[in-house]
Amino acid sequence: MSSPPRRPSILITRALPLDAVTRARDRAEVDFHDVDAPLPRAELLRRLRGRQGLVCVITDTVDEDLLAACPELKVASNVAVGFNNIDVAAATRRGVVITNTPDVLTETTADFAWTLLMATARRVVEADRYVREGRFTQWENMLLHGGDIHGKTLGIVGFGRIGRAMARRALGFGMRVLYQDAVAADAATERELRATRTDIVTLLRESDFVTIHTPLLPETRHLINAQSLKSMKKTAYLVNAARGPVVDEAALVQALKEGWIAGAGLDVFEEEPKVHLGLRGLSNVVLAPHIGSASADTRLQMANLAVDNCLAVLEGKAPPTPVNPEVLTRT
Ligand code: DGY
Repeated sequence: MSSPPRRPSILITRALPLDAVTRARDRAEVDFHDVDAPLPRAELLRRLRGRQGLVCVITDTVDEDLLAACPELKVASNVAVGFNNIDVAAATRRGVVITNTPDVLTETTADFAWTLLMATARRVVEADRYVREGRFTQWENMLLHGGDIHGKTLGIVGFGRIGRAMARRALGFGMRVLYQDAVAADAATERELRATRTDIVTLLRESDFVTIHTPLLPETRHLINAQSLKSMKKTAYLVNAARGPVVDEAALVQALKEGWIAGAGLDVFEEEPKVHLGLRGLSNVVLAPHIGSASADTRLQMANLAVDNCLAVLEGKAPPTPVNPEVLTRT
């Protein structure tokens, strides 16, 4: 009698919705770090050695050293759409498949970026604090004036899935939409979303809201810097629910303090989880702890997709959402 095939072995580095963990356990041996804090590097390496699959998150650095220390690794499956924590080129060289979780989080992340946009323009956090502090003692005509959203110009930096989902939301607010992206959307998409492609200089100059949806790449680091902030309208708002280092945070603090722009809504920071001290003291910025995709449904879908990606590779099948599919077609 032949023995059953050996089950693959996976490390899951973070607390995840338990349904996804069960899904993994049904088909693999799973070492689950059921804590919502990063595994220290040495422990990550120790626990990953000898395993073929890694389900990881954006705070886990998957680099050349890790790949060299874990030669049996076949797949690193990020529970995120962004994968700037992973050296994809090194993984590709070593034949390790990298996967991410696009699509399932598009609408949820756009919902949250839109929430930041509205909360910032209409000063919702300041208003909440005002009431809680017992300062609402009479109606006032001049209290907490914010900026209008409807009919204004939205500038979208990065016109991928989430950028386009923002454009769809802008339609409902009767906004003019400008976008900047290295690649132009097709004419039908531009028509449907009433979006016009422009260069970054024009976008910054003409937009009442600038919202960032570009991945972090060498060419997008500090894309929004002192010069770009100075070129925005004084009445404009900046929203970033993509990656912190796209914005020069020190320059943004100065811009918010000195009134170069009206306000900002930030879900991401340059050195997470550190937040520039200057931001914390400002009332014209709304701050969130990187929760753009954090609805219960979406986080479950992301975890399930990450597990499915990981298992597919280990079972010799095509994963649903590979980042470096070229590894799969190598003989
Ligand atoms: C992503 O998906 O890249 C988010 O930043 C983490 O949820």
